[in-house]
Amino acid sequence: MNVIVTGASGLLGRAVVTEFKRNSWKVLGLARTRVRDDLVQIDLTDIDAVSGIVREFKPHAIIHCAAEKSPDKIQMDPDSYYPLNVTVPGELAKLAAEVKAVYVFISTDYVLVELNELLLEINPGSCILRIPVIYGGEENVEESAISSLINAIRSNGVKEVSNYEIRFPSHTTDIASIIYQLVQRKLHGPLLEHIIYHWCGAEALTKYQMAKMIAENFGQRHDNIIPFNFASPGVPRPKNAHLSCERLENLGIRRHTRFEEGIQEFRKFFQ
Ligand SMILES: NC(=O)c1ccc[n+]([C@@H]2O[C@H](COP(=O)([O-])OP(=O)(O)OC[C@H]3O[C@@H](n4cnc5c(N)ncnc54)[C@H](OP(=O)(O)O)[C@@H]3O)[C@@H](O)[C@H]2O)c1
Repeated sequence: MNVIVTGASGLLGRAVVTEFKRNSWKVLGLARTRVRDDLVQIDLTDIDAVSGIVREFKPHAIIHCAAEKSPDKIQMDPDSYYPLNVTVPGELAKLAAEVKAVYVFISTDYVLVELNELLLEINPGSCILRIPVIYGGEENVEESAISSLINAIRSNGVKEVSNYEIRFPSHTTDIASIIYQLVQRKLHGPLLEHIIYHWCGAEALTKYQMAKMIAENFGQRHDNIIPFNFASPGVPRPKNAHLSCERLENLGIRRHTRFEEGIQEFRKFFQ
């Protein structure tokens, strides 16, 4: 079986590539700047180039992980990110329909209803998977919003960390497994009733609570971290971004890594 993974050099894409390879799929991973190993370089906004790759590789599935994920960056310059974040998902949905591939578009717990609806018009066979803040497999401490908390822990000065917004962090390997299970179900199960699915971690935590757990886990001090009990600055985010996992759970699809277990690999950042 063949799969194309976009954003294969990114935090989630790397885990998705690993998961499909582990299950003996032939993976074509696409990246733009961090091209290494067997990844293929492409700018996804070059639709002709993307079409050529998809038609030649004839994937059974396309997992679209590439995007600009920062709401603050997008808010500052929406026109620049429109092609990547809006046009490309639509073009990939069309191509997936053409080559009869399962298409999984990764969306977020921050509301993107209009884009999701647009995709459904283009390819009603798509799957849209909305996910929460993710962590795990970071190559540097800044790579996820969760590992970035280590900077606050290591800081000499006092740091305020949000104790307001409630998040449900999910390990990248959990999301990769959920995607794989969903693709298997799309390929081999009866027609699915729904198109939009959600997955999120099982623990409700503020960033302040996460930072304390990380510090305590590694025997680090956290008396310099102060809870900030108001909405975070920047683009307004939902206070409680809980996603219901019910649709996937009803299909028997699930996987949760406990946060305390998932953060063990952060040890490398404290050495
Ligand atoms: N990270 C989170 O906490 C989080 C939370 C909710 C939802 N999500 C969603 O999950 C998905 C994956 O996020 P992530 O954290 O893995 O993102 P990421 O680490 O920032 O990776 C982004 C990927 O997109 C690729 N890319 C960017 N522009 C491209 C272009 N023009 N052409 C081709 N590739 C391009 C990057 O390639 P290069 O690096 O090689 O240039 C990279 O592989 C995104 O849709 C994101 O919105 C993430």
